[in-house]
Amino acid sequence: MVNAETNAQEYALDRDCTTLSRHVLQQLQNFSAEAQDLSALMNRIALAGKIIARRLSRAGLMEGVLGFTGDINVQGESVKKMDVYANDVFISVFKQSGLVCRLASEEMEKPYYIPENCPIGRYTLLYDPIDGSSNTDINLNLGSIFAIRQQEGQDADGTASDLLQDGRKQIAAGYILYGPSTMLVYSIGKGVHSFTLDPSLGEFILSDENIQIPNHGSIYSVNEGNFWQWDESIREYIRYVHRTEGYTARYGGAMVGDVHRILVQGGVFLYPGTVKQPEGKLRLLYESAPLAFLIEQAGGRSSTGTQEILDVIPEKLHQRTPLIIGSKDDVSLVESFIHQQTQSEKSIMERSRVLQ
Ligand code: AHG
Ligand code: MN
Ligand code: MN
Repeated sequence: MVNAETNAQEYALDRDCTTLSRHVLQQLQNFSAEAQDLSALMNRIALAGKIIARRLSRAGLMEGVLGFTGDINVQGESVKKMDVYANDVFISVFKQSGLVCRLASEEMEKPYYIPENCPIGRYTLLYDPIDGSSNTDINLNLGSIFAIRQQEGQDADGTASDLLQDGRKQIAAGYILYGPSTMLVYSIGKGVHSFTLDPSLGEFILSDENIQIPNHGSIYSVNEGNFWQWDESIREYIRYVHRTEGYTARYGGAMVGDVHRILVQGGVFLYPGTVKQPEGKLRLLYESAPLAFLIEQAGGRSSTGTQEILDVIPEKLHQRTPLIIGSKDDVSLVESFIHQQTQSEKSIMERSRVLQ
């Protein structure tokens, strides 16, 4: 009995001590400079998450936190005060870090250099400081998305051409979810692990290791308000789930929350292209690719509809991409509708060519 109690106590203590930075080192099983770098990088990202979470938790009580700034960002979208704040938090935490020379974000047209870090900082941080900003003013869940890539150059024109490579070049990726509790989910290419912020310790403590997404789930997560803007193939898929038993819709307006639900419970999240925006809304380098890296590590898939997200080579920093992400079987099912449509369009064209 005494032994069982001691064991339980030791287990609880061990668990409390499994902080994010320790977990990264454990995963790499060494203390090389690279491992120390990654651990320190994740620790800084965690600090950014804590600072943002603190502000969000008191947003309704503070002046100047909620609402718009009145500016339009490089994406042509109205900027919220929280977008700017969170963007600056990430810059601040990486100052004097010696780790990150360059940051690229949804909110900055060109990458931001931290010159004092550049002589030794070999990494670039790509991030979406606040994902789902429309939820900011109504106290619903939000996220931050991040990816770390090796930096292969510095270019004066700000095109960051070395970043225009496929998603498999990501060294680490993940998100912070600001919900009832704050969670950090990450992967360094060795599985997917989630941490929960314990406010009494001020630390992210391990919640779940080696998360595996189910091969199929009942949830489909998409903004059906765009139904008539979609290609017929996507409309057909949605008609299919409407008339097939066993599907249910969930859409929160913040992809981090929606994808987190799917990571845990299975299903599929879609943001397809529309007539006005054939590339959809989501940005490849700091939204779709990091989530794709994570979901693939958890045994799921992500696709543009015709290509794996992680194989897409962007042509520009803020490139958008259609996104279908989640359980293997569900992503493949959506793709099969797209494939079918392409095939029938081809055969119609073929027939009309023959008839001419
Ligand atoms: P962001 O706030 O970074 O611009 O991203 C919002 C994204 C994503 O989180 C969400 O799923 C989607 O946009 C919501 O868009 P709609 O309102 O068009 O559904
Ligand atoms: Mn976003
Ligand atoms: Mn954003």
